[in-house]
Amino acid sequence: MSDTTHSAGGHGGQASGHDDEGASRRDFLYLATAAVGAVGVVGAVWPFVSSMNPAADTLALSSIDVDLSPVQVGQSITVTWRGKPVFIRHRTAEEIAAARDVKVADLPDPQADDQRVKKAEWLILVGICTHLGCVPLGQKNTDPRGEFGGWFCPCHGSQYDTSGRIRKGPAPANLVVPPYAFLSDTQIRLG
Ligand code: FES
Repeated sequence: MSDTTHSAGGHGGQASGHDDEGASRRDFLYLATAAVGAVGVVGAVWPFVSSMNPAADTLALSSIDVDLSPVQVGQSITVTWRGKPVFIRHRTAEEIAAARDVKVADLPDPQADDQRVKKAEWLILVGICTHLGCVPLGQKNTDPRGEFGGWFCPCHGSQYDTSGRIRKGPAPANLVVPPYAFLSDTQIRLG
């Protein structure tokens, strides 16, 4: 009813009731799929090999949740976050002690261990060598870990310690600590 009153006053020759203004673009409704994804890597005992087949949607997510509860002391897992391998290591007491028993000022890229972790037992790193981008070894118990017990990059021999800091070889910087937060004692959100 009210439609007819409008068109009668405005446009003379229009019999169909077709209203150009009204047929606006407001029909578009964007349901933005927020990428604050909670597609967790559930049951994340997913060491290294599984990173061969990351799902495309996982790659695209800006953040992922990871359940740490299956990862025993002395174990590592690798998850894929933004297309990169992320190393998560449940450090032993010895590894923590070794990471803290160094003169920080003498390191090639000086950084104290407690600046690189939120909880001492969990070390979380982007697993990409800061030299030329290889993925260092050290995630498997059978891998060589170098002289400092952390990770060893076979490409040109960079050696990282149990805090992921560069100690020897051509890499110029420590392995990067990605942004993350603990959601609970055993769950983190990366990104
Ligand atoms: S890429 Fe790791 S040492 Fe060169």
